[in-house]
This record gives sequence, structure tokens and C-alpha cells, in this order.
Amino acid sequence: MTAISEVVVEKRPTAQAPASAFAVNIRGRKVPALINPARDFPAWHFAMLNDQDRNRALERAISKLDLQGKVVFEVGTGCGLIALLFAKYGAKHVYTCEANSHLADIAARVISSTGLSERITLYCANSSTLIEESLLPEQPEVIFTETLDCGVVGEGFYAVARDIRRIARPDTLIMPGLIQQYGILVEAPTLAKLNRVDEACGFDISALNIFSTRSYFPVRERLYDYTPLSEPFLLHEYTYAEERPAVSGSALAYRSGTADGVLSWFEAQFGDETITNSPGTHGHWHQAFHPFNAPLEVDAKQEIALRIDNHGHIAPQVPEETRA
Ligand SMILES: C[S@@+](CC[C@H](N)C(=O)[O-])C[C@H]1O[C@@H](n2cnc3c(N)ncnc32)[C@H](O)[C@@H]1O
Repeated sequence: MTAISEVVVEKRPTAQAPASAFAVNIRGRKVPALINPARDFPAWHFAMLNDQDRNRALERAISKLDLQGKVVFEVGTGCGLIALLFAKYGAKHVYTCEANSHLADIAARVISSTGLSERITLYCANSSTLIEESLLPEQPEVIFTETLDCGVVGEGFYAVARDIRRIARPDTLIMPGLIQQYGILVEAPTLAKLNRVDEACGFDISALNIFSTRSYFPVRERLYDYTPLSEPFLLHEYTYAEERPAVSGSALAYRSGTADGVLSWFEAQFGDETITNSPGTHGHWHQAFHPFNAPLEVDAKQEIALRIDNHGHIAPQVPEETRA
């Protein structure tokens, strides 16, 4: 394993990209012809990098740190933006990694086009590989990751958290420090219909529902009609530093109706900066809709206990006979 160090690229072969395609040494003047990786590239990176509220909040959070003499480790650099910000604001050295080899190539190019590349080592690798193979040459004082999707866990939260816990010491600063996930119970047949079908032109095509998403999927809540059945409630809290037992989140219905699921969003604390995809915000993250397995009849003032699993699937904890 090699690093895309100062910016030297060394990668493991993958199914999409054989090792021979990886002779990249941008600093060393041998720049590969970039092939268009087409759909192997997650297109949401454009929207994310154009999300100036997100970028500015992360830059503010990094700029407030005292980074002199500090070693930083970042999980998941994408195009290298965060690694560059840490270097810009004074980190002694930034070790970063990117599991997607196409993005790692881009990050190598971006980083090497700045005057900061001497203080950045980029690995084209998953953080688990780096840590399992003890490839980080220095103990980081700061660990940063922005690997959040709309429902928090979909980009590998638990794997990243496991990796971070393996190398963090009690005094390591981990960003984000806390991620709180909130939800509201919603009656939302239009959202439910994004995920299941019963009939079309008189034919029963419900067999397709074996492909329904069980956990959650992104929705721009403002584009859909739905009826809130509860006030916002705390669904779960996540930290990379320690595993938090599932909060026994419960929703207090303020209106009777048929709950189709939970609409959720997060508030992630990067120092004193909060990044959120709460309803009404216009960032690149959508909100997350967690469909129930079956619609649930709720009465006004009824308290509904909800359990969220590690995939983000939410199950109401109610006796079977009260289910619709
Ligand atoms: C949401 S993007 C953020 C990129 C960058 N940190 C930023 O904020 O602009 C997260 C990136 O992390 C990468 N990633 C996710 N989990 C990873 C892991 N365990 N190891 C290495 N890269 C990872 C993904 O491929 C993706 O490019």
C-alpha cells in the first residue's frame, strides 16, 4: 500500500481499476490521462461542494482550532477540500484517505495544484485498511470526518466510528463531536408511494415491493404534501468517540392519523458550528424518510415508542393489534 503522498498515489487494485492504472505520481511529474469514470463517480459531490453553507461552516470550524504542531487524520476526503483547509489553517501534517479511486485521483490533482501538498498525505484507501495495516505514521491529535448522508448512517457511519475508536486517544479531538437526529411522525401517502406499489392498470404488481427500501431514502420534504402528526423528537444521538445506546425515542402524537413513517434530519456539531438538513434548509442534503413496514394508526396524545436500528430502519414499538 502506498500513499498518495505529497501527492504520491499508490493504490490497491480494485475490480474497476487494476493496479497498472494506478501509476500516478502527480508531484513526480507523471500525470495519468484522466479517463471519464462515468457512473463510478457519485455525482452528489458537485452539489455537496457547491453547498456554500456547509463549506463555510466547516471552514469556520477548522479555522477556530489551534492546529499549530498538530497532526490531523481525515476519513474520506472526496476532492481534498477538508485536508486543504486543515493545512491552510496551520496543521503540521494532514493524513487523509479516500476509498473511491476516481475521487482520490482528483484529490491528488487538486492538492498538488496548491502550495499545501507538502503537508498532506493522501491514501487511496478505505480508513479500515489504513488502520488495520497500521499505515498511519503518526498519532493524530485531531480526527475529522464528514461522511454523513441525509439519514446519518448510510455512508458507513458505524464502520468509520469503529475505525476512529481504534486510533483515538482520550484527548483526541474528534469532529463532529455529536450528531443528533430528529424526526417527526408523518402521514404521507405520497412519500410512501415512492417506495411501494400495489396495482397498475388493474394488475397486482405488489411483487415489486420486495425491493422497497426498508431503512430510509432522501426526500426534499418541501416538494411533498404530508401531515405532521407529532412535534419534532430526538430519534438518536451518534458520536464517533463512543457507542451510544439507542435512545428510546418516542413521539407524542398531537393529531390522530395514519403514520406512514418518520421524516428525519440531523444536527451535526463541528466545534460550535452546526450543520443540519432540517426542514426549511436549502443545502445539498435532502431530509430522510423512514417508511414504516405498515401504516400505523395513531391517536392524538398517544405516545409512540420508536426504535431505530443501525441501518436507520425505524420500527414503532406498539402491540400488533393496534397496527392498521
Ligand atoms: C460526504 S464526502 C465528503 C468529502 C470531504 N470530506 C468534504 O467534506 O468535502 C465523503 C467521502 O468519504 C469517502 N469515504 C467514506 N467512507 C470512507 C472510508 N471509511 N474510508 C475512506 N473514504 C471514505 C467517500 O467515498 C466520499 O468521497
